[in-house]
Amino acid sequence: PLAATEDLVFAATGARTAVAAFNVITLEHVEAVIAGAESVDAPVVLQVSENAVKFRYGRLLPLARAATAAAERASVPVALHLDHVQSDELLRQAPGAGFSSVMYDAARLPYEENLAATRAAADWAHAQGLWIEAELGEVGGKPGSGGRGSAAVPPLDAHAPGARTDPGEARAFVADSGVDALAVAIGSSHAMTTRTATLDHGLLKRLTAALGVPLVLHGSSGVPDDELAAAVAGGIAKVNVGTALNLAMTGAIREFLAAHPEAVDSRKYLGVGREAMARMVARFIGVLRG
Ligand code: G3H
Ligand code: ZN
Repeated sequence: PLAATEDLVFAATGARTAVAAFNVITLEHVEAVIAGAESVDAPVVLQVSENAVKFRYGRLLPLARAATAAAERASVPVALHLDHVQSDELLRQAPGAGFSSVMYDAARLPYEENLAATRAAADWAHAQGLWIEAELGEVGGKPGSGGRGSAAVPPLDAHAPGARTDPGEARAFVADSGVDALAVAIGSSHAMTTRTATLDHGLLKRLTAALGVPLVLHGSSGVPDDELAAAVAGGIAKVNVGTALNLAMTGAIREFLAAHPEAVDSRKYLGVGREAMARMVARFIGVLRG
């Protein structure tokens, strides 16, 4: 059934685990995330990012409707989350499209501007009954933002101290903005195709102690299994995974088409890609459960 992100996050922390949140782009992603979660009988979050909406000709509703319909028919709780929202116009579409939560992304802005924009977004979101996540510090590597991570401006090295979330600043940011959860920069980076990130577990410990809200790990595709398990033990409550699904899908399709150059029916290769993604979903959930 369709669930609320907030409930899944709190159920996960109560069970000393984290909820897995997967970014979906196509209907095959949606089906794979749900099938993977069902195969291990776990709740899951389906995330649609602003970049995914841009890919869908700027329209949120077609994919959101499909995701809602799939969630309603799932045997496990499935929540819909709107991810990395920079556009207020998109933010305003969230409640009407079945989303129970949003991640408002103003992390590219200087502190005061990030705070002001996030506070306004949080006030609006709460009036709509939405759970809202924001980011402080910068998880690098996000493409297409026009800032760091774009071709013109190289990604900020996620291991550089300047990119990290400062516990004192984060405490004030959460209190002053009123957000329900915080994405923290502790060493992961978006869009990594190797699982080689090293997390700053000391910093995570200090953030967990300083903040009274659930913490979110972005760029989890690049984080090795043992580091992910340690992050959950250290207080991460929501783990965002995107690139790992695309790696699984594209790799499986590439292999299938190489072995079957005569293939024409798109169901053949999309089906193979969907199965590879579902296995990856189950794998990540298994790591988070420990
Ligand atoms: O918000 C989405 C996640 O941070 C996904 O990051 O594609 O590097 O796994 P990833
Ligand atoms: Zn992210």
